[in-house]
Amino acid sequence: MKITTVVGARPQFIKAAVVSRVLRATPEVQEVLVHTGQHYDENMSDIFFEELEIPRPDYHLGIGSGTHGSQTGKMLEAIEQVLLAERPEWVLVYGDTNSTLAGALAAAKLHIPVAHVEAGLRSFNRKMPEEINRVLTDHASDLLFAPTHAAVENLRREGVPEKRIYLVGDVMYDAALFYGEKARRESRILQRLELMPKGYALVTIHRAENTDDPRRLRAITGGLCEVGKEIPVVFPVHPRTRKAMESYGLLEVAAAHLSLIEPVGYLDMIMLEQNARLIITDSGGVQKEAFFYRVPCVTLREETEWVELVELGWNKVVYPESPEKLAEEISCSLAGFHGKEGNPYGDGHSAELIVRHLLRG
Ligand code: UD1
Ligand code: UDP
Repeated sequence: MKITTVVGARPQFIKAAVVSRVLRATPEVQEVLVHTGQHYDENMSDIFFEELEIPRPDYHLGIGSGTHGSQTGKMLEAIEQVLLAERPEWVLVYGDTNSTLAGALAAAKLHIPVAHVEAGLRSFNRKMPEEINRVLTDHASDLLFAPTHAAVENLRREGVPEKRIYLVGDVMYDAALFYGEKARRESRILQRLELMPKGYALVTIHRAENTDDPRRLRAITGGLCEVGKEIPVVFPVHPRTRKAMESYGLLEVAAAHLSLIEPVGYLDMIMLEQNARLIITDSGGVQKEAFFYRVPCVTLREETEWVELVELGWNKVVYPESPEKLAEEISCSLAGFHGKEGNPYGDGHSAELIVRHLLRG
């Protein structure tokens, strides 16, 4: 069975790494890997292929950055050419990026069945580019691999036929378990940054709604700088955020109070997560990893798709209204909070389940 996997952005490399490993250990499967080139910096792309031992992409489309329409359109055209040449039995897409939508749409138009990993997530906020990508991808897909019960319910409510939906758990939990131990053995990031376990807060910010609005990014930067006076704040800066900070004149003040570093590889990142006192983020993946390692998390957004984290009490969603309010909320959270125990993301074997369902069709 030939399966074409389409990836392009950082979190997709991590998700595909665990599924690809199972696919490639399955004799009846031939995986053809397509990298759209949505992310292209060495530390946003290549580092993950090396560290996570993802095979070299069979096709690198080199699309790069652009406006939503232009980026998605170029991907659609290029992926179609690959699919016409390869004629796979399945196209496998992950998450909610423009690469996800382009892969799903290209396949659906050619009547090639689509399988969507991380199906059914909803923020119910149509202003998020990711929300449009998710909804359209889910409705173009033939197999929907939902990570949580809430995701299954969202799909049911939208009328997706029951026989297409499979609750499989979260492949990011597979990754966190598989690489967590390796990170503890191999990562030297704490020594390199001279950090004490539980002696720092870890930040990532990259969502369009936080970076594209100067007022909001100013509130976030101001709030974090206040926190930086209390405890070291380590902030691997996404290129989108660095560019926004530069253009709003926020980079200098941020560098004075925060430990701004370049994006790091996955092993260093999960090492930083495991040892943080608090994680402050707007990332989907990082919110869950905080929970996997039982580190309290403050999510700088208006809502989260990962509602279980809030229900269990490990995640607080805080709207970054003003620097003062944000600093106050984070300061309170630094005192520590703990959620309830629970296991909403499966048993760490999601990738095997996904491959089994794909083989059954
Ligand atoms: C994308 C996804 C988002 C996901 C995130 C993961 C969409 C609509 N958004 O957001 O859902 O959470 O990836 O990180 O698909 N840039 C570089 N180098 C790179 C990549 C990007 O400099 O290697 C800069 C460019 O200026 C680019 C900007 O970052 O315009 C945004 O990149 P893009 O891929 O469009 O969106 P992300 O914000 O990364
Ligand atoms: N990540 C990483 N290095 C970093 C920041 C994040 O390896 O400098 C990892 C993180 O551990 C998680 C994934 O990237 O596994 C999350 O991706 P991102 O936040 O870019 O996107 P999202 O999950 O919000 O779509």
